Amino acid sequence: MTETASFPIFVRLVGEPVLVVGGGRVAARRIRRLRRAGAAISVVAPRLTPALADLADASVLRWWDRAFQDEDVAGFRLTIVATNDPAVNRRVATAARAHGSFVATTDDNAGADAPIGDAVLPAVVDRDPIQVAVASDGRAPTLSRRLRARLDAFIPRAYGELAALAGTVRQRVAQSVPTRLRTQFWTDVFEGEIAEHVFAGRLNTAQQVLAKRIEDAEKHGEVTGTGAVFLVGCGPGNPDLLTFRALRAMQRADVVFYDSLVPTAIVSLAAPDAEFRHVGKRAEHHTIAQGELNALMVEHASAGERVVRLKGGDPFVFGRGGEEIADLAAAGVGFEVVPGITAAGGSAAYAGIPLTHRDHAQSVIFTTGHRQASSLALSWATLAQRGQTVVFFMARRNLATICRSLLDYGLPADWPIALIIDATTKQQIVASATLGEWVDPGEQPELDGDGAGLAIVGEVVRLRATHGWFEPSREPPAD
Ligand SMILES: C[S@@+](CC[C@H](N)C(=O)[O-])C[C@H]1O[C@@H](n2cnc3c(N)ncnc32)[C@H](O)[C@@H]1O
Repeated sequence: MTETASFPIFVRLVGEPVLVVGGGRVAARRIRRLRRAGAAISVVAPRLTPALADLADASVLRWWDRAFQDEDVAGFRLTIVATNDPAVNRRVATAARAHGSFVATTDDNAGADAPIGDAVLPAVVDRDPIQVAVASDGRAPTLSRRLRARLDAFIPRAYGELAALAGTVRQRVAQSVPTRLRTQFWTDVFEGEIAEHVFAGRLNTAQQVLAKRIEDAEKHGEVTGTGAVFLVGCGPGNPDLLTFRALRAMQRADVVFYDSLVPTAIVSLAAPDAEFRHVGKRAEHHTIAQGELNALMVEHASAGERVVRLKGGDPFVFGRGGEEIADLAAAGVGFEVVPGITAAGGSAAYAGIPLTHRDHAQSVIFTTGHRQASSLALSWATLAQRGQTVVFFMARRNLATICRSLLDYGLPADWPIALIIDATTKQQIVASATLGEWVDPGEQPELDGDGAGLAIVGEVVRLRATHGWFEPSREPPAD
């Protein structure tokens, strides 16, 4: 640990004279922020990047097109060191300090052993008006930048809008919401329904709900909240393929409903304090009827809870998301659908089968391979076409019927087919053959377990030989 540490501070610079020494990319980044801060910017540098030169031409900044001289620093409140020559940077810092100008430098130059400036310019995540700054006192600038990148990915873009919305009512809340309720009030705004409306781009609704919450707090002296249901697509099984939005919804859940298609590694990412309810559903083993599940979700949401319903793949692709929503809508419960990577996309990518490679397929069809063999009532004439790819979900048990029907409707015996099981996970299995081979159940691969599987039919399957990249480790499942 460093003996002394920098003091974090955000400085207002509207109209303040600021000198930037350097005209390259680093200087350009600093100047972008200085402009946002409203500073009066001067730059000394023999050359400018084209973008900075444009700003100089437009008199947005003043440019001295020459090397730095010690007297340049006179009259500036702040001097920013931004050249890639340590000797020049050091000279600028010494001159600026002698003239009473505060000197700021990048984290790279701020090494505690030989610091160049007084202040460190941090790596920033910008969600105007929220700014998150990261610096390491010159100890690990690359780590600061990596941390910044992670925060950037994790902090929703719309936090800025949320903060701006809060700003519009801050005074009113301070005046009219009793002090004892205020923390609860703001937590509800930033964590609850209002935040979700903002994140989903429903700003008007967010404003209306916020106004209503303020009124309730004023009138009834209590903070009210309403529950909602999030239908969250979890992708094909690999936790790395979750979306940020899915993860955020999961981490803020009060109750989580999940079924067998969602692996434990994903379920365990949800808020640890949430109530977890397994609702079954691997093909025939329904542990809870759909109607009962829908009623439960309505009940929890109506009690003000944030209900997260985890779904395999994407909720709207053979996922019954539509049916679940119908009941929620009928009950007047708020809901949101978080899309996920469908198993079709996940399987194709991880098996190295580009679904619409333009030399082979101009369209792709997602269809079901489920139901008893005799009642697979699909439009086979449409499916048995060249120049397209067909993805059969729930295909494991009906491979022979699928192959037979496609052959009957005109596809040749050497037409390629692949079966992909537990795609994107360490247990992934890909088997490929031709329709002619697999029409005979005896020729089909013998596969243990009940991993989810789908079939891809079309010439693109052949590309797997050159496009396959994923090597599953075949470790046994964690649970
Ligand atoms: C009820 S459907 C749900 C589909 C899901 N909503 C989606 O978008 O992927 C279940 C079927 O999805 C397919 N599936 C789901 N996960 C899979 C995986 N990891 N690998 C292969 N197929 C998968 C299988 O065909 C399985 O029978």
